[in-house]
Amino acid sequence: MTNRVCKALNIRYPIVQGAMAWNSMPELVSAVSNAGGLGVLGSGPMPADIALENIEKIRSMTDNPFGVNVFLDAGPMLEEKAEKLSSVNIPVIYIDTLNILTYDFTKKYYDIFKAGGSKIVAKINCLEDAVVAEQCGADVIIAKGLEGGGHKSKIAAGILLAEVLEHIKSVPVMVSGGIATPRQMAGYILMGAEGVEMGTAFIATHESPVHVNYKTGILAARDIDALYLGDCTGEASWQIRNQKAARLDAIEANNVRSVAAELFKKEAAGSGRIAAQTGDTQINGSIMCGATVALIHELATVAQRVKGMCEECEAILRQSAT
Ligand SMILES: Cc1cc2nc3c(=O)[nH]c(=O)nc-3n(C[C@H](O)[C@H](O)[C@H](O)COP(=O)(O)O)c2cc1C
Repeated sequence: MTNRVCKALNIRYPIVQGAMAWNSMPELVSAVSNAGGLGVLGSGPMPADIALENIEKIRSMTDNPFGVNVFLDAGPMLEEKAEKLSSVNIPVIYIDTLNILTYDFTKKYYDIFKAGGSKIVAKINCLEDAVVAEQCGADVIIAKGLEGGGHKSKIAAGILLAEVLEHIKSVPVMVSGGIATPRQMAGYILMGAEGVEMGTAFIATHESPVHVNYKTGILAARDIDALYLGDCTGEASWQIRNQKAARLDAIEANNVRSVAAELFKKEAAGSGRIAAQTGDTQINGSIMCGATVALIHELATVAQRVKGMCEECEAILRQSAT
């Protein structure tokens, strides 16, 4: 399976492992890149110097291309990251944002990273951002739907993909959000996607560095256990039903929005990290994930999630053509 995404990113399989803050660390990133996909360092909230240390670790674990997440907002870290990360020859800069992109701001940073020799992967949540990303020179666009883990997408993946494909022609478009099976990948390829991004499915791998309780929490979850919480904060995300989620849910249900937002942020702070690092996945930790948990039945190796996914997807596509 090779296509425009593979050519643009110099990878074998059109599979991207979505950046996951403090979760997609060098072990996972290098495993994905070694398997022929694109591993991406979860460096969005990392200070530049810590990101640089992790980049060196990744380089010691793979010779293949990998990505580094930069969060495109007007915060103080962006300038420093632009300066430091554009000088160390990073194969791919993977850019996400919670804001609607504006041309001048976006172009400025794309140009800095491109001048440093990086390809740009733009992860977008709405059509407007896809258009700006294309105009500013993104090499690959990932359309991420609301089924996905992490923050804020309001449009379902299938709708967003169809919409983006109507307008974006010069840049290959991948799809993300709620994807874990070859059958889903095949369906999206038939729609016109040129590959898929997965986050949650890569957490449920042997190579993922999170605590084993986090992984078993994903494997055990039913479809109705994935809860979409935090709308009051403007940055909703999915997590698996547990005692922590019940407290967060009660905060949203029992307070007016502005009060709920403050209380929610206080209660939620650090909870993903607690679950991932200490294994408290019931009381104080949150198993942050995507809505796809019920499709993930067993721990896999990263190679199964990358090569296995693409090979089975191709077999499904062949079969459907006969
Ligand atoms: C625990 C977790 C942390 C995430 N952190 C980030 C992040 O720091 N930056 C980012 O761009 N996306 C982040 N995401 C989103 C992923 O990159 C990816 O888009 C998403 O997981 C895809 O949806 P899926 O989990 O349903 O496969 C995160 C997702 C999860 C599950």
